[in-house]
Formats: sequence, C-alpha cells, structure tokens
Amino acid sequence: MFITLEGIEGSGKSTQIAAIARWLKEAGYDCLTTREPGGTSIGGQIRSVLLNPANDDMASGTELLLYVADRVQHLETVVRPALAAGKVVVCDRYFDATMVYQGYARGLDKKMILRLHELACGGLTPDLTLLLDLAPEEGLARAWRRIASDDAHAAESRFEKEKLAFHRRVREGYLDLVRKQPQRFAIIDANADVAAVSRQIEAALNVVLSFKC
Ligand code: TMP
Repeated sequence: MFITLEGIEGSGKSTQIAAIARWLKEAGYDCLTTREPGGTSIGGQIRSVLLNPANDDMASGTELLLYVADRVQHLETVVRPALAAGKVVVCDRYFDATMVYQGYARGLDKKMILRLHELACGGLTPDLTLLLDLAPEEGLARAWRRIASDDAHAAESRFEKEKLAFHRRVREGYLDLVRKQPQRFAIIDANADVAAVSRQIEAALNVVLSFKC
C-alpha cells in the first residue's frame, strides 16, 4: 500500500505524517514513512541543491530532472523494496508535486512530465493521496513564521520565496488533479486544528485500508 501526502507550503504535512505513522502502527500495520525530495542519502544532497535559496537561477528543466533523479533513487532503494516487503509506505510528496510545481506552476509541458515519470519511474501511482488543502496566503504565512524561527528551514526556502501567484497556481494545480482523478485523492481541510486534520486523515485511511488490505 502506497500513500502520499501533498499540499502547498505550510499545509502541515510533516506534523500529520508523524501522526499517521503512530496511528498505523497502533492499528497493527508495518509502516514506513519517507519523503521526497531527500528520502535517501543521495536524495538529501539533491534536496540541498533544489531548495537552497541561493540557487535562484536554476532552469526549470534542471529542477525537473533533479526531482526525477531524487525519485528514481528513492523508488529503487527505499519505496519499492518496502512495498515488496508488504509495508504501508507513507511518503511526504511524490509525483503529483512534480506535475503541480514543475507543470502547473513553472509551465513545463505536463504530457512530457508524465512521460518522464513513466520512463524513469515505471509510472508507479499511489493507492491514496491525501491533499492537505489550504489558502496559499495562510500556508505561506505559516511557512514564513517557521523560516524566521529556524535556520534549517531558512536554508530550504527557495520555493517559499516564489510569488503568491506561483503558490496559487500550485494550489489550483492540485485541485485540478483531484478533479481528474477523484478516486485516488482525499481532500483534507488543512485550515482546521491539528486534531481535526488528523481525524479527517484517519477517516480517509480507514476507507482505503478496508478496501485494499
Ligand atoms: P517539502 O518542503 O514539502 O519537503 O518540499 C520541498 C519543496 O519541493 C516544496 O516546495 C515542493 C517542491 N517540490 C517540487 O517542486 N517538485 C517535486 O517533485 C517535489 C517532490 C517537491
């Protein structure tokens, strides 16, 4: 079972992924949590390049290929072995982020991005994608509070520095993907408090786990 979390900056994915892992373990599932970019040692190095705010001249094609390189390494060495071992893999961001950030928001050709995913990653698609949906104004305000209080987040702020219009395209891109594949996505209202967000996520997990496990 492959579950992914998506959302704009500041949507609360990191907090929720820890809660999901606890919930799945208590329910008796063997679960692995991971993330993109940066779910492997090589991926961590790629992540630093991708998110370093000093790299503000990165070409969109370079950005796309670095995300795909991170994903190939991650799928081959972490995700596919865990899925083959019967684990529930919960990943903080995956291919939908590429479609949305590099396709909808940067403007790269979406058909080319999909083809690249099929060629490089075998087109592996999640069983469930939780979209933590939030207004970009609110998400960015949360993200910038975090950056102001934490050097580690400041070192990874290249996308937060993008204009509000970019983040609006990201949110609209995600909502468009939901319209196109409603059966795979669950929209979670990320404006609610942490406990209420967790309850919405647990309800979505219960549905998919009762069908597939
Ligand atoms: P994170 O802060 O959720 O770890 O994500 C890192 C950033 O990378 C975030 O701004 C979204 C961006 N991203 C892409 O642009 N394309 C991708 O394929 C992925 C996985 C993330």
